[in-house]
Amino acid sequence: MSPEQQIQELSAKIERYNFQYYQQNESEISDFEFDQLMAKLKSLEERYPEYSLPDSPTHRVGGTVTKNFETVFHIYPMLSLDNTYNEEEIRSFDERVRKGLDGAPYEYICELKFDGISLSFTYENGRLVRGVTRGDGTRGDDITHNVRTIRSLPLSVKGTNIPSRFEVRGEGFMPYRSFEKLNEQMDLMGENPYANPRNAASGSFKLQDSAEASKRGLDCYLYAFLSDEPIFDSHSKSLEALQSWGFKVSPGYRRVDNIDQVIDYIHEWEEKRLTLPLATDGIVIKVNALEQQQELGYTAKSPRWAISYKYKAENKPAILRAVHYQVGRTGAVTPVANLCDLTERNLPYGKVKGVQLSGTRVKRATLHNANELERLEIRLGDTVFVEKSGEIIPKITGVDVSQRDFFLTEAIVFPSECPECGTQLQRNEGEVAYFCPNETACPPQVKGRIEHFIHRKAMDISSLGEGKIELLYDLGLVRTPADLYTLQPQHLLGLEKNIFNEETGKTKKISFREKTVENILKGIRKSKEAPFKNVLFGLGIRFVGATVAEKLSNYFRNLEALIAADYEQLTAVPEIGGRIAQSVLDYFANPINLAMVHALKEAGLQMQTADLPVVIEGDSLSGKTFVISGVFENYERDELKSKIEANGGKVLSGVSGKLNYLLAGANMGPSKLEKARKLGVTILSEEDFVQMLQAAVR
Ligand code: IVH
Repeated sequence: MSPEQQIQELSAKIERYNFQYYQQNESEISDFEFDQLMAKLKSLEERYPEYSLPDSPTHRVGGTVTKNFETVFHIYPMLSLDNTYNEEEIRSFDERVRKGLDGAPYEYICELKFDGISLSFTYENGRLVRGVTRGDGTRGDDITHNVRTIRSLPLSVKGTNIPSRFEVRGEGFMPYRSFEKLNEQMDLMGENPYANPRNAASGSFKLQDSAEASKRGLDCYLYAFLSDEPIFDSHSKSLEALQSWGFKVSPGYRRVDNIDQVIDYIHEWEEKRLTLPLATDGIVIKVNALEQQQELGYTAKSPRWAISYKYKAENKPAILRAVHYQVGRTGAVTPVANLCDLTERNLPYGKVKGVQLSGTRVKRATLHNANELERLEIRLGDTVFVEKSGEIIPKITGVDVSQRDFFLTEAIVFPSECPECGTQLQRNEGEVAYFCPNETACPPQVKGRIEHFIHRKAMDISSLGEGKIELLYDLGLVRTPADLYTLQPQHLLGLEKNIFNEETGKTKKISFREKTVENILKGIRKSKEAPFKNVLFGLGIRFVGATVAEKLSNYFRNLEALIAADYEQLTAVPEIGGRIAQSVLDYFANPINLAMVHALKEAGLQMQTADLPVVIEGDSLSGKTFVISGVFENYERDELKSKIEANGGKVLSGVSGKLNYLLAGANMGPSKLEKARKLGVTILSEEDFVQMLQAAVR
């Protein structure tokens, strides 16, 4: 593959993982693997800068901003850290520091790297006034209501030498115990448990209801102090002060004199960190003197005075007892390994507790796809190695062939038929996953689509969970999301089912009593108020996640316009590429889907965006046409659109020779900009546009 192709492929892959990680709270790969991909892309871009993409993921600092909360700009940007994975990289960091400081003596502070979410807290006149997530590093979500629930975080501070305004930063996390308790409860309610404590923390800090957040045992370690007035001359002094003001600072930090001592610290914590009540994934090394930090400065995304060292994920042997084949919402068939500890090989499956790995017991691990089975060359009964990649989804990394007994092990044969409905499996060219094509009648696909539809980010029908959907499906009451809206109390009252949980080996009874039925129907009724973008996300169109759904809904504004859109119109939407466009076209080309969507409309779901009222302000833009593209600092695109319309202008969807102005924000597609330039269209920044309006008012 040519370097150009490699760069393109890697960028797309990383962007996909970025999207999963930052917007869906999911990850298919470990941090280590992700960082490796990033490092590979970085080095390719350095060697072949001419092929580096303008919107390469290496230019990104982090995630994007969730819309549900007020967005707040950080006064001091929230950067991230460069990662290292071995002693050599740590030593070259030290070399860079030594050179950067011209041979002057310096010391480091070593801290644990906590695995949660980065938070920033502002204090004014001693009182906590705001808590914000990192977001994209420049602006984050205001989650003050939830951070106030952190028991260890002082709501007000007293002491000498405290500036009238300051910021503290730290890692918000969910301790293992709270995590396990929460997942148990979610399981009881038939909801999907969180994959790991970091996702649980991230989801909980972003809850709308702080009463719920307060029950979740969230916590935070503080590791940075920022203020306009220089008060401390070293990081360690600021940590001591924070501690003395009542902030929770992890006691594990240490001041060291040289890089050998840093490496000692790394070794010391390698095992010890696993005994802590919360997840850690490495250590952070910081130059102690603030003056020296200033001297070393920053790159675009991280400080040159600090670095992180990531521990390799813990790896343990286990016995592969069986392989199950799971069919997902999209029909993809994933092999899943059933595992047990070496000491449990003779126990019945219900009694198996699993392998102790990075703080939890692991009984199942994904095997991804048929290729992975071939690659690993595993047999049933083998001793395999399991790893919790990035402490997320456990996976099998290899086989201990020395332990293999050919007579006691058995070859694994990937099924040729769907284990759920018996349909012949298929595989698309160029794709690794086998899938079941029986979209309309394969039970997990049908149930999966309904489960997706009721998801928090979709119709948010929390009174229905996985177990209840299963019951409704098994009784033939619900086959599509639209069927939910036909349910009546008499269909539901008195229904009962025992549901066996393979994971826990326990059976749970679900019964629909009066109160349950009332809640379910109330939740279904309430979902009719959910905005169009949620409905669109809930349909489960391939590649249309919550963010894409929002973009489509903002652009097309109603169902009919979206259904009528062709490939060109779809790809004209900022950040919508060919793959998404094709998937949307395929979805609406299917008469079964169209009928379902129309049934949803009939049922009274929101099939258009709530329009911002156009208040006529003037006619200074009369006869002028605009295209709005990219992301803006002070306005949403919708707001800009209504501003233009309020002043007599017209907003078009695509750049053409007739266009007067292109209102260009950050991250807009370079091809659009190029086209506008070629056609001689005037390009306006957000500031230009505001000035244009103001000039007209004067
Ligand atoms: S210092 C300029 N210290 O790691 C960045 N970060 O990859 C300053 N983290 O976003 C961060 N433990 O969420 C720092 N002791 C620690 C940390 C820590 C965890 C997280 C933090 C940050 C990420 C950087």
